[in-house]
Amino acid sequence: MIYRGSRGDFLVQMEIDNQQANPFWLHRFILFTTACTFLLIIAGALVTGNEAGLAVPDWPLSYGSLMPPMVGNIRYEHGHRMIAAFVGFLTTVLAVWLWRREPRRAVRWLGLIALGMVIGQGILGGITVLLFLPTVISVSHACLAQAFFCTMVSLALVTAPKQQGLEFRRLTENPGAPLQRLCVLTTAAIYVQLIIGAALRHSKSGILLHLGGAFVVAVLVVLTVARTLRHYGGSLQLVRSASILGLLLTGQLFLGIGSYVVRLTARNDVQPALSVVTVTTAHVALGALVLATSLILAIQSHRTLSPSLETTPLPSAAQRVTS
Ligand code: HEM
Ligand code: HEM
Repeated sequence: MIYRGSRGDFLVQMEIDNQQANPFWLHRFILFTTACTFLLIIAGALVTGNEAGLAVPDWPLSYGSLMPPMVGNIRYEHGHRMIAAFVGFLTTVLAVWLWRREPRRAVRWLGLIALGMVIGQGILGGITVLLFLPTVISVSHACLAQAFFCTMVSLALVTAPKQQGLEFRRLTENPGAPLQRLCVLTTAAIYVQLIIGAALRHSKSGILLHLGGAFVVAVLVVLTVARTLRHYGGSLQLVRSASILGLLLTGQLFLGIGSYVVRLTARNDVQPALSVVTVTTAHVALGALVLATSLILAIQSHRTLSPSLETTPLPSAAQRVTS
């Protein structure tokens, strides 16, 4: 299938093709894999939170076996590896499934990209263990995890069967309040904030940068939500996603402050306190949801809104005469 026209047209065309071609079970399978990936992010955050990264010193085997005794911190580290292996298996099945059955080239490639990411992520996980958790590798591992989750969420969105009330290009983007670019900017800012957060978590420095990032993200999210509610109230989808984004960000700001406070109060503890593990793990997990929701809103805005007429001006009479 050859797609012509704007990126918005491309997304709409993908959606229409999808309704005709996508099997119900494929979408269900993607949703399941996405949910497992979210659990994997929580399991990974528990490894970092419990300082269990070196509980198993070898890789790819664990203490030379597939199943070491699940005691102490080995539970977190090996448990994380097992869930990762399962997600890797699911992603492989998914990539093959998409490659064989999916009519849209872009979606087939997205499946392959997801597979490449999960393999890269496994290798980064192994390297960080073998090299005793160097900050740059651990941070890259944390960030690739978020990017992989976003890829799964995108796959889930573009393979969703037709839903009641789904709108395709019903609204025109208001040139005085453009939404599509704002959503992309907000999503990019949240991803940068996650990178800064990972750097802070693994190097224990850079809180001021992270606070600055939180301010920028908060401003962008407020702008995005306000603009959506004010100018695009006609789209239930956009309003729903924007409202969820606003709520999640509010929770994330509270958890961020909570993370800082519990870290401060437990700074002399010999072992990671339960409060620290719980609050910081929740902060990592909610960070993934904030990013994913912003990405969903960005994709939906491209799918729902057609470009305003002002952005594609018709040639003037003088231009037509001279051409
Ligand atoms: C394949 C998919 C994988 C995903 C999505 C994933 C995700 C994550 C996440 C989100 C974290 C927490 C980062 C943070 O809190 O800052 C983490 C930590 C960790 N992961 Fe994975 N992981 C995967 C595979 C693996 C594998 C195969 C290993 C093999 C050893 C591994 C080893 C680790 C280690 C050691 C940590 C702790 C790093 C530290 O504390 O510095 N991961 N992972
Ligand atoms: C825009 C909102 C925010 C987002 C999206 C966000 C995201 C994140 C993420 C994803 C991490 C962990 C990264 C990883 O290892 O994978 C993190 C760490 C952290 N964040 Fe935030 N954050 C936000 C706001 C805040 C705020 C307002 C504070 C308040 C002081 C804060 C304090 C912290 C602290 C202390 C850590 C390190 C936790 C630890 O040491 O384990 N965050 N942030």
